[in-house]
Amino acid sequence: MMKQSSTHTSLGRRQWLRLSALMAGSAVLGSNMQAVADTRRRAFLADLPVIKARLSANENPFGPSDKAKKALTEAIADSYLYPREALMQLRKLIAKEENVAEECVLLGAGSGGLLTATALYNAFKVGTGSHILSGDLSYMQLIRAATEIGCASEKVPLTKDFDYDFDAMAARVNDKTSLVYICNPNNPTGIIANGPKLAAFCEAMSAKKPVFVDEAYIDYAADPKQTTMMELVRKGKNVLIARTFSKVHGFAGLRVGYLVGQPDMIKEINKFTPGASAISATSAQAALVSYQDKEFIKYSIAKNNESKAFLYKTLKDQGYTYLPSATNFVLFPIKMDGKRFLQEMAKRGVSIRTEWQYAGQNWCRVSLGTMEQMKMFADAFKEIA
Ligand SMILES: Cc1ncc(COP(=O)(O)O)c(C=O)c1O
Repeated sequence: MMKQSSTHTSLGRRQWLRLSALMAGSAVLGSNMQAVADTRRRAFLADLPVIKARLSANENPFGPSDKAKKALTEAIADSYLYPREALMQLRKLIAKEENVAEECVLLGAGSGGLLTATALYNAFKVGTGSHILSGDLSYMQLIRAATEIGCASEKVPLTKDFDYDFDAMAARVNDKTSLVYICNPNNPTGIIANGPKLAAFCEAMSAKKPVFVDEAYIDYAADPKQTTMMELVRKGKNVLIARTFSKVHGFAGLRVGYLVGQPDMIKEINKFTPGASAISATSAQAALVSYQDKEFIKYSIAKNNESKAFLYKTLKDQGYTYLPSATNFVLFPIKMDGKRFLQEMAKRGVSIRTEWQYAGQNWCRVSLGTMEQMKMFADAFKEIA
């Protein structure tokens, strides 16, 4: 019994030793693999330029406001609750401010999701094969989403002044057109459309097809109330207006946006969203505060204008032209290949965007950051311009 038991024990020990060796081996192998992975990661990261001035996504470095940050922090305690009341309140506030019925307002976690929901509505309700009409250049999120799931896009070049070519666009609307997309002020140009022409175009087109006006940057316009197409919604026209808190409110990471349109369209598009509850309790409370913080909006715009004036001067001094911007970014033609320009700026710690080749030129879009970030841009730019 004893022997058996000791044999059993020694066998067990052998097995245990083998197992331990295996485990130790795999641990060594594992730690070696980890070391190799770490070295590779370090090498990869060492190759990646460190970005000190992120001027590539049109974010607002002056936000969120102090009041919004306070509301965010205070909202944490109750964040085990679904934010139903705060969202209802936010919708009510927006409806009141815009003088539309609450059923006209659809909230979302950023306006990007609402653009995508509109693309889904287009593909699944109107039908794949339908066409979305837009200007070119313009913001492509909705169109890209729609074309990836079977819709087609019809892009009409801008005029030589970088406004929409309304006559050419109107001429392209036909039976296959399912939606007309306008971004105003436009991204990436920063140009604001001719007001009366835009209003006439939207009103006429909306009698035929839904018109989607993306007003992500409307707060930066000199007169947002004059610039918006909201009046057409109030007049019962089939116009959808998208807005976001990501820009002037500085909420890009907090994710709040909304769509305003006729109640039946809003109901249809809502079927393709996860609902307003995609907005977190903290973001909902912060948005409620920020929406009413007119002082912060004024401050944000004033800082943006300072950075814009500095950038204009920098570009002018280096012999560059630019498009006059009604937004928090500026588009200008560069004198080298876009990818190379982007890499050279990134090497110097500045991220910008350069994917546009248009009217025979390569273009760079710079977001307006803090003055410190703009100076980093200026220093890097002077080296390579
Ligand atoms: C014109 C335009 N529309 C919509 C969006 C989406 O913004 P968000 O999803 O952050 O609300 C952006 C983002 O940059 C934009 O430039």
